[in-house]
Amino acid sequence: MNHGLTRRRFLCTMSAGAAGIGLAAGAASCAVQSGSMGEKPAILGGKPVRTEPFPSWPVVKENDEKGWMEVLRGKDWCRSSDGHFATQFEETWAKTLGAKYCVVTSCGTTALYASLNALGVGPGDEVILPPYTFVATLNVILMQYALPVFVDSDRETLQIDARKIEAKLTARTRCIMPVHLGGNPVNMDVVLEVAKKHKLPVIEDACQAHTGEWRKRRVSTLGDLGCFSFQASKNLNSGEGGAILTNDPALHEFCKSFQNQGRGPAGAAFQYARQGSNLRMTEFQAALLLQQLTRVEEQSRAREQNAQYLTSLLRQIPGISPARMYEGTTRNGYHLYMLRYDKAHFADLPRARFLEALEKEGIPCAGGYTPLNKEPFLKELLNSRVYRTIYSGPEIAAWEERNACPENDKLCEEAVWFFQEMLLGPRRDMDDIAEAIRKIQKHAGELV
Ligand SMILES: Cc1ncc(COP(=O)(O)O)c(C=O)c1O
Repeated sequence: MNHGLTRRRFLCTMSAGAAGIGLAAGAASCAVQSGSMGEKPAILGGKPVRTEPFPSWPVVKENDEKGWMEVLRGKDWCRSSDGHFATQFEETWAKTLGAKYCVVTSCGTTALYASLNALGVGPGDEVILPPYTFVATLNVILMQYALPVFVDSDRETLQIDARKIEAKLTARTRCIMPVHLGGNPVNMDVVLEVAKKHKLPVIEDACQAHTGEWRKRRVSTLGDLGCFSFQASKNLNSGEGGAILTNDPALHEFCKSFQNQGRGPAGAAFQYARQGSNLRMTEFQAALLLQQLTRVEEQSRAREQNAQYLTSLLRQIPGISPARMYEGTTRNGYHLYMLRYDKAHFADLPRARFLEALEKEGIPCAGGYTPLNKEPFLKELLNSRVYRTIYSGPEIAAWEERNACPENDKLCEEAVWFFQEMLLGPRRDMDDIAEAIRKIQKHAGELV
């Protein structure tokens, strides 16, 4: 397919653009005008919808090199107590999000780990989490020898079903850990109401939600603590990195000390206020983050506009359901563009085959997570010697029964993801995604 601005594509883009927010009419006309629909699917040897790559990630510019070289030549590579770049990034990121305090860490996992320690979560405690998340959310709970308690997913939003949290609480629940997965905010009205009613702290896992907003407040600032990841794939990235946000001075003091081997506020080399660990971010990471931060807003706006347009196109395809946002969402961070695929509208074409066909059309995609609550390693760990020292056999058996998440099981079979960098290019890239899906749908019978 020619990726120059063909007349068909020009008309298609213009009609959608002119419609602004009411994009549906433009999208419909694109579907009718689409040129490659008659083509054989690429997986059967036809011409792919797209041969051009999507934008690459990360974006590297001159200012990144400048920041990096400043650290290199300055020779203060470790933040030790008060690294210049780490402190500057903490202040800037807290201000950007509207939080009082920020503590940077080596990665998102260590940000969550420090947060659980700040709340004193330990053996015998239960922590609420979704089953549809990256394994790190679970791993940090297990690092504390606490019990993860999974609350089923809301398939429409692909988020924790906050209405089901209360039923999972027990006298042992110590903390609620919602995850704003893919950047799409969790229903924080419900989470905060339940937390308040039961006097439970909330750690927001905002590792994928750098610009997400709930009722005009940035996610990570709504609970007691909020955590970010700056790992390579993330929308704000320094290869690895993490941050904890809080408005509570005591939690801030704890996290700052904990990530620096338990040193006191002055950071004196051999004086310790508590047990801690080395979770420090390097000055290189912080300098890079300060530079990457200069383009986060512009990139996020581009993703939001493209995602909105893509949703208008995909909503018209039977069997494709883009992730819904809760009414309180004022901004989606779009680390992922997520949807559900219903094979009944694709001649029963299995999702794996659909994904394969989509890749062959030049559209990178993934099927996403498997059910975390059913991970074999989890079952093994809960029956290990260490866990059995803390929890009895009947307790573990009861845990297994409480942790069925049938909606999530279905979700894990129907989810489809596109990646954040795919939303950074021109609007016509979205037309390609929709066109490839329509093409596969048209030929689904031949692909089964
Ligand atoms: C939802 C979620 N939580 C936690 C993490 C852990 O972050 P990191 O990889 O920086 O340790 C990630 C990273 O992918 C994540 O997506």
